[in-house]
Amino acid sequence: MPKKKIVALGGDGVGPEVMEVTCSILEQAQFDLEIAKPLCGVEAFKDRGNAFPEEARKLCEESDAILFGAAEGPSIAILVYLRWILDNYINLRPVKYYPGAYSPLKNPEGIDFLLIRENSEGLYPGREGDLRWLAQKISDYQDPFGRTLDFYGPGKFALRLITQRGTERIAKYAVELARQRKSQGFPGKVTCLTKANVLRQSCGLFRKTVEEEVRKEATLQSEHFHVDDAARRLIRFPKEFDVIVTSNMFGDILADEAAELVGGLGIAPSACLGGQKPYFEPVHGSAPDIAGQGIVNPTAMILSAKMMLDHLGMKDEALALEKAVAKTYEEGKYLPVDQGGKASTKDFAEALLRAIL
Ligand code: NAI
Ligand code: MG
Repeated sequence: MPKKKIVALGGDGVGPEVMEVTCSILEQAQFDLEIAKPLCGVEAFKDRGNAFPEEARKLCEESDAILFGAAEGPSIAILVYLRWILDNYINLRPVKYYPGAYSPLKNPEGIDFLLIRENSEGLYPGREGDLRWLAQKISDYQDPFGRTLDFYGPGKFALRLITQRGTERIAKYAVELARQRKSQGFPGKVTCLTKANVLRQSCGLFRKTVEEEVRKEATLQSEHFHVDDAARRLIRFPKEFDVIVTSNMFGDILADEAAELVGGLGIAPSACLGGQKPYFEPVHGSAPDIAGQGIVNPTAMILSAKMMLDHLGMKDEALALEKAVAKTYEEGKYLPVDQGGKASTKDFAEALLRAIL
């Protein structure tokens, strides 16, 4: 089999730091990958006036999968490409506890669920504007109190789009994942999170569509919670979830909360799928408050690489990487600072590599 071609886009802040050690682990473990590392992010912006130069884009087009660190400022261009131009509408965010990780819960053992965030519509990318302009365009629109938009005076608006097509495709994916997990011994339950009590039309469509898709698969259970109630349930009953599906911004927010249940953003990986080319990135951003200090926890990036290996059919390699993560946390000798340890990013990565080799 030819080597799988990977493009590693570090991006900004801690992005390049977690990417460097992750690529080094993949290379030193001698996994059958060819990894290209083009210049991108703020460095490329300073050098070429473009955070996502043409050669990086071309490498992405020719690759089997993309690893991405984090973006800030002008590097948002990279995210626009990865999410919207490639149309990766699925953002899969596993929430799994590895013993030894620094959870604030008393009994985190056994937390293992998937959060699926719709990645292409809802409130993102920001479709915003001037309220006065909108009030003129839809001067006959009346809100639930019978007021026209003019009533509210100067301000801004944001549009939230929930489409039939966008909702159907994410609902189908949630059902497929729950079906697969059921065959592996998980409950086979899809939990839909909306605010349909207030956003009756948009969240109403999301809820109805998910429930219809789950009903087609007789073996699966379906449940729905309002997102505010769900924020509480995640902390109180984290082991009752199997597959959660929700719209873009709710998923964005709840994923950070859910990450904290199992040790925080330093551990939370994700896969962005469904489009022309999959990409894999940590849930966290560029973490400017700790960038450049050599202390960032690279686990989220490493577990994102594990998801990539799984997606590419490299099951043994994916398992080896995950086992090494589990072993390093269980031993607890070289844990990063966010996990209550003292290890630098590199020391942690070296310990993890020793666990593979
Ligand atoms: P953030 O996720 O970068 O950081 C939040 C907090 O978690 C910070 O205190 C940070 O130090 C800590 N943290 C994050 N990752 C960590 C890790 N691996 N190890 C240890 N601690 C870690 O979120 P924030 O501060 O809201 O955003 C910072 C920048 O990142 C912004 O410019 C934002 O737009 C961008 N961002 C980019 C994303 C992406 O590229 N996909 C996602 C989220 C934010
Ligand atoms: Mg986020």
